[in-house]
Amino acid sequence: MDLSRLVDEALREIDTAVDENALIQVRARVLGKQGALSLQLRELGTLAPEARAARGKDLNDAKMRIEAAATARLEALRATASATRLASERIDVSLPACGPSLGHMHPVRRVESELIEIFAGLGFEWVDGREVETEHYNFDALNIPADHPAREMQDTFFVRPGVVLRTHTSPVQVRTMEKRKPPLQVITTGRVYRHDKDTSHSPMFHQLEGFLVDDRATFVELKGVLYAVLRSLFGQNVEMRFRKNFFPFTEPSGEIDIRREGSWGGRWMEILGCGMVHPNVLRNVGYDPDLCQGFAFGMGLDRIAMLKYGIDEIRVLFENDQRVLERF
Ligand code: DAH
Repeated sequence: MDLSRLVDEALREIDTAVDENALIQVRARVLGKQGALSLQLRELGTLAPEARAARGKDLNDAKMRIEAAATARLEALRATASATRLASERIDVSLPACGPSLGHMHPVRRVESELIEIFAGLGFEWVDGREVETEHYNFDALNIPADHPAREMQDTFFVRPGVVLRTHTSPVQVRTMEKRKPPLQVITTGRVYRHDKDTSHSPMFHQLEGFLVDDRATFVELKGVLYAVLRSLFGQNVEMRFRKNFFPFTEPSGEIDIRREGSWGGRWMEILGCGMVHPNVLRNVGYDPDLCQGFAFGMGLDRIAMLKYGIDEIRVLFENDQRVLERF
């Protein structure tokens, strides 16, 4: 074959080789042992000595051009391959991470465990209660008789006549006192149920109840305990005030409001109910009100979580929208 055609063809094939393999094949066809150019080089020996030098130089030039082109093409192919790989393996660090997400505690649980810990520090033991209660424990034993208007303070779900979903955690006071003798210093937490629904009420919510009974408990101690707890929970700069109130199971009864600069629109927020355990409640569990006395208190954990974390609507706590809960 004509040398310049051979070179042109080889160069074209080298330039259009799509990968290293194609390139190796072109090289073998031209420069390999049986390659077109190698055969021509081998034929040099058959030429007359005068012609040999010029022909030899032409062949050598051709070989070097082809080899240089092959080397350049090889580098180009490798560069493209590496660029393609880098592009496909590129990590976009600005994309949202997709690692496993960590679970965390629900705001109500968090407030609950924080309070249990604070009360434990003051010597209060946690006990469990039951969510389905008899009217006796939920009302009568707490000095709320059937015909008493106080029953209407709490809209009740009846499971069947005489059995209710507890409307508050106060029945735990009765069940605990019945089983044990003073001195007692106990809290309980759990779900309670009322036929109530608006932005700040849900038919199921959570309460913390506590009481202390011994032979000399006073209202001053009640105040000391609750002020200490509220300061731990809401910070030392929280302001607190007592308001008188009525609960059938305490006498006298009060309510505590809290206020904090920069929070809750500067308003006083109702936070808990409390009082001295009513002598009738003590009598109902077989205690002698002349020999012992105590104080009690009850608070809504959902309401506390809402105040603490700035949540406006109670339903936010129970819809379980992870995007919302993750913010607290
Ligand atoms: N049981 C009351 C309620 O659910 C809250 C309460 C008030 C509990 C005063 C108490 C207390 O122990 O002393 O509304």
